[in-house]
This record gives sequence, structure tokens and C-alpha cells, in this order.
Amino acid sequence: MRNNKCIAHRGWSGQAPENTLAAIRMAANHPEIDMIEVDVQMSRDGVPVIIHDYILDRTTNGSGKVGDFTLEELKKLDAGFWFNPAYTGETIPTLEEVLIEARGKAKLNLEIKRAGDWYPAIENKVVELVQRYDMESDIVITSFNHETMRTFTQIAPAIKTGLLIYGYPVLLEELLAYTGASALSMGYDYLTENLVRSSFERGLDIIAWTVDEPQDMKRIASLDERIAICTNHPDRWLLAREA
Ligand code: G3P
Ligand code: CA
Repeated sequence: MRNNKCIAHRGWSGQAPENTLAAIRMAANHPEIDMIEVDVQMSRDGVPVIIHDYILDRTTNGSGKVGDFTLEELKKLDAGFWFNPAYTGETIPTLEEVLIEARGKAKLNLEIKRAGDWYPAIENKVVELVQRYDMESDIVITSFNHETMRTFTQIAPAIKTGLLIYGYPVLLEELLAYTGASALSMGYDYLTENLVRSSFERGLDIIAWTVDEPQDMKRIASLDERIAICTNHPDRWLLAREA
């Protein structure tokens, strides 16, 4: 169990405001955090930015849809105060800022948030940035939008993709073939012994999210030490694995 890798969900979001450079830096600087998960959307003027919700209201002092604002407008918003006044001044990071922060320190799981036909060509913009910073081998792309995942596989086969699923996967062969994914990124409560075994047998990686309670961390880790534990609380994982 000690060997399961840890992924910091939205950065070290239990300790710092999610998807900000503060949370990402905290995770990137910890030697035992292997990967950082962040959510990627796009500004009105086509710049990939890091934020979870499609609207600004919960995690910034702005209001309205992320994609209705230019990068300059988004950068004026505060993305830290809501979490703790000590983080006032944190902003919505660009993907480029996050790549620079993580490069050489931690791998990144980029979850592409793309409802409907929003954010046209976000796939090309993300790939262009990842290639510019020579980070293809440090990235896994996931998305609930499986059409978007297929696009990534087609335009950048060197970048790994993971099938993002909340639920028990059916027609898994077809989904893997369609998207080209080589990993399974699953809501942890749907992971079963059989699914774990058969997935590793077919050479898939497994990410389990979002595992925040120590007893769940231990249970998932005990299924197989190759399962990566994605959590808002890496500190709890570091303690739980010793117990
Ligand atoms: O990447 C897994 C997980 O982050 C998906 O759910 O809503 O936290 O982005 P959500
Ligand atoms: Ca996510």
C-alpha cells in the first residue's frame, strides 16, 4: 500500500485554494506527490485557463461564465479570498503558468472541461502549449467529453489520455478503442476487484478519484498498489499509508 502514487486533486486543494498557483506549487514542491490534477477551460480570447466550475461565482469574486471573459478580465479576479483571506491575490492561472510551475517537479493530469461545443479548438491550444514546454511525457489528458479525448489522441498520439468515468463502465472496449485512452480515471466508489484486475491485465493505468477519507484511501490502495490515489488531502494519504 505504501507504493500507491498520490495525485493532488486541483492542486493541494485541502490546504490552498483549488486550481491556483498556490495549491499547485504546494503539491509540486512535495517530493512524494507524483502528479497534480487541474481543470482546463478557455477564456473568451482563446487562452487555456485553470478553473473547475463553468461559472466564476464559487471560487472567485467574479460572476458569470468563464468563457464569456477575456484573459485580461479573468486575471483581475481574486481566486483565493473565498478559501482563506490569507490567499487574497491568487488569480485564475493560465495553463502556461501551470506548466512552468510543474515542469521538472510533478506530472500533470489535465482534465479538459468542455461541455457541448464550448471552447472550440481547446485541444489544439493545449497540445501546442504542452509541446512548446516539451512536456508530452509528463501529461495525462482526461475528459468526461470523450469526443474531445478522441481529438487529443488523433492530434497528439504521444500524449497519454485517460478515460474519465463516473459510474461503472460498460462497453469499455468500445470506449477505449474510440478514445484511444490508455488509462482509466474513475470515481473510486465504482472500482471493483474484477475491474481493477482486468484493467491492469489489458495494460491500462488506473486513477481513483476523489479519495479523501483515510479508510477509503486504504481500501482502494489495498486493491492494487498500481492504483494512483487522487485526493484533495495528500497529507491524509501520507499519514494513512504509514498506519
Ligand atoms: O479528474 C477527476 C475529477 O477531478 C473529476 O471530477 O468534478 O472534481 O473535476 P471533478
Ligand atoms: Ca477535475
